Amino acid sequence: MKAVILVGGKGTRLRPLTLATPKPMVPLANKPFVAYVLEHLKSHGIEDIVFSMGYLPEGIKAYFGDGAAMGVNLTYVVEDSPLGTAGAVKNVEKYVRDGDFLVLNGDILTDLDVGALVAWHRERQAVGTIALTPVDDPTAYGLVRIGGEGEVLGFLEKPSWDQIDTNLINAGTYVLRSEVLEMIPAGVEYSFERGVFPRLVGKGLHGYRSDAYWLDIGTPEKYLQAHYDILERNVETSISECLDGDYVCVQGDIDLEIGAKLVPPVVIGAGTTIKAGARVGRMAVIGPGCTISSGCVVEESIVQEGVELAGDVRVRRSIIAGGARIGERTVITGGAIVGNDAAIAADNVLANKIRIYPGTEVKAGSIRF
Ligand code: GDD
Ligand code: MG
Repeated sequence: MKAVILVGGKGTRLRPLTLATPKPMVPLANKPFVAYVLEHLKSHGIEDIVFSMGYLPEGIKAYFGDGAAMGVNLTYVVEDSPLGTAGAVKNVEKYVRDGDFLVLNGDILTDLDVGALVAWHRERQAVGTIALTPVDDPTAYGLVRIGGEGEVLGFLEKPSWDQIDTNLINAGTYVLRSEVLEMIPAGVEYSFERGVFPRLVGKGLHGYRSDAYWLDIGTPEKYLQAHYDILERNVETSISECLDGDYVCVQGDIDLEIGAKLVPPVVIGAGTTIKAGARVGRMAVIGPGCTISSGCVVEESIVQEGVELAGDVRVRRSIIAGGARIGERTVITGGAIVGNDAAIAADNVLANKIRIYPGTEVKAGSIRF
């Protein structure tokens, strides 16, 4: 079976992490996010995969190439302008025309049993089957009402509070019959969520409820949560094996000085130096080629590739993007995001979800909140 992964969105809610890096390439435990989607598909025997792209396509192509290194066969299609979720699939029609195919939102971390989803679809001879997952607040998602046999009774994208009568939402993975392609107008913006699915209600659209791990990584809070869940092994990924046993995953040679402390669960990238008197963890992912100086504390945080932390820096519940440099005693906390290659000098306090844009220079002691 073939699969289309939708990766054309701009990832605005994850800015500034997505200004230079498209959302699928934002690293998750030191690997591009969408690599997990490919590994997941591959583990269910799905190897022919089409990337439907728009925003910043080059980095994705350069990294994955033809897919051979991951044991998959990749095709790339780039839109001139955003065609919406269904328009994007129409645009790759020639690759999926024969038989059933899969469509996946490219920003979902899940260990959904794809085989069971496909079997459910075939048993019901459905025209389309949507994977469903329960969430606490459906307002940010597509609400799906189903009947006793799994038939979809209603599909409501981004419902308002008074419309909510179920906690089941569209989990962003679909099995579709090729006939569905005929419902999608070519060359114009059209969506599954507001176009195709509402029109297919009562006409062979089914829902498959799953209690597998599921997370949309599209906001900073969710992106941090995805790391915590990988570190705690709430979701099985290729990192699980590396964490096995002691929950310390070291991804190559590192320089861990005597007196440096790793508190599990942690992931440390290759070529990173952690100096005496620094503490990393619990719940931290450090990228490759970083320097964590003496007296630093990094917990519940993500520090991406090539970041330098000077002495006594403290990082808590925050994200520091690749190449950033942080001066002595600076505190980064409370959901702060420091963009790529930013230079934050000594004695700053970055808190309250502050977002520092890529390349910004912040002078010593100038931000304190
Ligand atoms: N190729 C292409 N072209 N891809 C697109 C386009 C487009 O015009 N628009 C969005 N995408 C991709 C995004 O990159 C993302 O991977 C996926 O389609 C979904 O878009 P989001 O912008 O992340 O949508 P959402 O999270 O608000 O809602 C969607 O996902 C929810 C589950 O996380 C909907 O499908 C909801 O119904 C669903 O519950
Ligand atoms: Mg999303």
